[in-house]
Amino acid sequence: MTDFFTMEPGETAVPLPPGPVLSSGSAGIRRVHRFLLWAYDEAPRLVRSTAPGDTGRAAYVGEVLGNFDRVLLVHQDGQDLFMYPRLTARAPASTPHAEQMIDQHGQIRTRIEGITPVRRRWMQAADTQSREELARGYEEVQSVLSVHLRREVTEVMPAVDRVLTEAELKAMVQQSVRQHDKKFLVTYLGMVLATNPPDDRKAIFFEEIPALVRLGYRLIGRRMFRRQYAKLFPGRPVPETL
Ligand SMILES: [Fe+2]
Repeated sequence: MTDFFTMEPGETAVPLPPGPVLSSGSAGIRRVHRFLLWAYDEAPRLVRSTAPGDTGRAAYVGEVLGNFDRVLLVHQDGQDLFMYPRLTARAPASTPHAEQMIDQHGQIRTRIEGITPVRRRWMQAADTQSREELARGYEEVQSVLSVHLRREVTEVMPAVDRVLTEAELKAMVQQSVRQHDKKFLVTYLGMVLATNPPDDRKAIFFEEIPALVRLGYRLIGRRMFRRQYAKLFPGRPVPETL
């Protein structure tokens, strides 16, 4: 099976800046992108799996989708603020690629903001019309997002690894993490673990996250994740995490 993060014909990467690899940004970004790919692949089906009039489920699913949207927007804002300006300053040849990626972030944001009122309406009314409008809206997000998530990894990240330091990268991640509520974060960790292969799961759990989050996950996060997954996907086995 080909890796999802593979270049397609005609696509080109940022010319590699000279010097050694300074950070492991590529690996970390792939892990977040795997979660986002999964989330937006499921999103339209999650909406359509909610029966018209089932306001309880619409409210629940809509809240989870709103959390996905927030993770996505915070993630790309972090890149716009802390990653792309440094990349273009230190590797000027990356500018056209960076501009394209930032433009894709904008397209994704516009789509998410466009469907947010539809999502809120559907959460309250669970009506057929908003359900279809929302499901279609998430399909559109997915089509732009899946291209962006792949191309950012294949075209831009190898250059980022050579110009951003590990400390700068960690600060960017911390800045994103601070914008989410703690209870949400431990469930989110379950989703990230579940959507990554076993070796990445171990790296996330034992190398990337602070000991306190690890403890929170063991105490409550894993259970919350399993409960959430079972509620979102009734009858499906809950995937392995750690
Ligand atoms: Fe991005």
